[in-house]
Amino acid sequence: MRIRRKPWARPELAEWENCIDVPAENRGKWHSVFKNDAPLMIELGCGKGGFMSKLAVAHPEINFIAVDIKSEMLGLAMRNIKREYAEANREIDNVYIFSQEIMLINKVFSAEDVCDRIYINFCNPWPKTHDHKKRLTHNNQLMQYREFLKDGGEIRFKTDNDDLFLSSKRYFTECGFELTFVTEDLHNSGFEDNIMTEHEKMFSEQGIPIKFLIAKKLTINPSEKETNEGENRAEKVENVADQPENFAEK
Ligand SMILES: C[S@@+](CC[C@H](N)C(=O)[O-])C[C@H]1O[C@@H](n2cnc3c(N)ncnc32)[C@H](O)[C@@H]1O
Repeated sequence: MRIRRKPWARPELAEWENCIDVPAENRGKWHSVFKNDAPLMIELGCGKGGFMSKLAVAHPEINFIAVDIKSEMLGLAMRNIKREYAEANREIDNVYIFSQEIMLINKVFSAEDVCDRIYINFCNPWPKTHDHKKRLTHNNQLMQYREFLKDGGEIRFKTDNDDLFLSSKRYFTECGFELTFVTEDLHNSGFEDNIMTEHEKMFSEQGIPIKFLIAKKLTINPSEKETNEGENRAEKVENVADQPENFAEK
């Protein structure tokens, strides 16, 4: 996605204590960052942060982490979070953000981080077949998420894109997830407590129904052969174009 440059974003993020500059340093220790053992939920590709800012302020009993690779996006997410907490007159004590290439997410989370839920909202559909492995719901990525998502933990996935949704249902099943809720039209599904993301608002206004699923992690670990994990892992690392951004003054 193209976004206008925001020269203020990096300096402001560097100043904000809830933006983690080197997230890999906290791998396996995220609960100590929050200084409690509350459940941990992670949003991958948070964009402007409209979803995370509303979710986190509404749930002080849960710890949240929002990840995106773009400083411009994280800058807007930071401002949205600050605004929501100020309006609620609350200290920002249960949400952190950072820049990270999600295809390398296991550099920042490990099994010790015991994640309860992952949110993936309107990730890039990567329509060309040779790009499918970059999808945030592709088997390559799901097998990484499995390592830090607890057994029985959930991935909640929303998209406007029919092809991505169809393929993703297969990816989840192949990677040892059970689909516990699936709808082709979230806003008319009776599902309660939905928080709209920026992309969700945009697509809804265009009359495009929102596809949504909840995938529960089963304990069984699918074999490498079934998921092509081993085969694709090297490719995956070679194909990483963007690098995460650090905001602290060097
Ligand atoms: C289409 S936007 C959706 C933003 C938001 N979730 C929403 O629903 O409005 C996708 C976001 O994911 C981020 N993103 C895409 N691929 C990524 C990757 N491999 N690693 C980290 N962030 C990524 C982009 O920078 C962008 O902010």
